[in-house]
Amino acid sequence: MKYFYFIPNILADAAHCQTDALGRPVAGVVVICRERLKGETFSHQAAVQTVIHELFHVLGFSKELFHTWRDCSSMSQVTYSDGSGHMRIYTPSVISALQKHLNSTDPELGGWLENLGVLPGKVSSHWESRIFQGSIMAAELADSSSVRINPVTLTALQDTGWYNVDVSSAQSLVWGNGEGAMFGSLSTCQNKSSSFFCSGSGFGCHYLHLHKGECKTDQYLEGCSVYKPLKNGSECWKKENPRRSAEADSTGEIFGFDSRCFFSSLTRQNRSQFPSFISTVEGRCYRHRCTGPNRYQIHVSGSEWVECPAGGSIQIEGYQGSVSCPDRRLCLYSDITPPSDAVDTFPAGSGSTPAQMNTVICRKHSL
Ligand SMILES: *[C@@H]1O[C@H](CO)[C@@H](O)[C@H](O)[C@H]1NC(C)=O
Ligand SMILES: *[C@@H]1O[C@H](CO)[C@@H](O)[C@H](O)[C@H]1NC(C)=O
Ligand SMILES: [Zn+2]
Repeated sequence: MKYFYFIPNILADAAHCQTDALGRPVAGVVVICRERLKGETFSHQAAVQTVIHELFHVLGFSKELFHTWRDCSSMSQVTYSDGSGHMRIYTPSVISALQKHLNSTDPELGGWLENLGVLPGKVSSHWESRIFQGSIMAAELADSSSVRINPVTLTALQDTGWYNVDVSSAQSLVWGNGEGAMFGSLSTCQNKSSSFFCSGSGFGCHYLHLHKGECKTDQYLEGCSVYKPLKNGSECWKKENPRRSAEADSTGEIFGFDSRCFFSSLTRQNRSQFPSFISTVEGRCYRHRCTGPNRYQIHVSGSEWVECPAGGSIQIEGYQGSVSCPDRRLCLYSDITPPSDAVDTFPAGSGSTPAQMNTVICRKHSL
């Protein structure tokens, strides 16, 4: 296969090479760039996710293939523009999976496709990042502990008409769950109506609460911001993460497998009892244990286990300030756990050059 060309910053790419008479892909190719599969940034889990992402393109989740999907019921087209000019996938299973995910009855709830770097009226081969953070088919794969093979993605493959998909084996997508049909729109992400987005620049918790995070945006978020894991030492579940000496001690942090990130302003009360030093709210790591669905207790250094009512906040004996207890993030999804292998960031295939995503790179090739 000598016709592949090198595109800088691309980790992997994929394309189908051949379809049957009805447009179903029957042969394809996935290219993984060797340089990015070794060295310190290598993560087995991230490499597996990258391959799955590319295979899904070959199997049908591709701008080259949307128009040949078979199961379009009465609809003539799979993708078309919604009222605001955003291209979406409108197929029956995708719509009902999204209704379930966002807890909305909107019958026109198509699956948003990424519009960055795409001409108006054209489609891309990825889900819109603001609405599908963490999905295996977002343009840029998140930290591997956050990447999910989510139900909406699997139902899209079902709607190609070429596969029987066992959607029950999908992984839960916490991002946006229950947030309604307007979730992730540019108008709602900045007005603090959703706890998934943040504004300004500050420290808090990544939405899965496995990591501390910093409020940041990126090119795909188009001005919306989210708490992204810090570059180092942000994993609450990593026991070896260095506590920042005296400062960590005064905030009561504990790192370890059952620790999660909480928005907290706790400071240990000082015996000298000078006028209180009130800490700012930031993400801090405390232990947690589940006592039921969406019910849990937390353990701050030097204190007892205490009930943390989801959606509320609590004070801890011996500390000034308070801890917020996230609602519907902890003790609700059985498949959200610390990863089984080392975590690091690993950009997805083609992530950094959206305009070239899914370029047909197999063209004519000799076997
Ligand atoms: C879904 O929406 C209904 C009606 O608005 C509400 O009662 C219910 O609590 C919501 N469920 C979730 C999981 O958000
Ligand atoms: C990250 O690591 C670098 C180098 O080891 C260190 O200088 C920096 O303070 C660390 N950052 C945090 C947030 O711990
Ligand atoms: Zn891709």
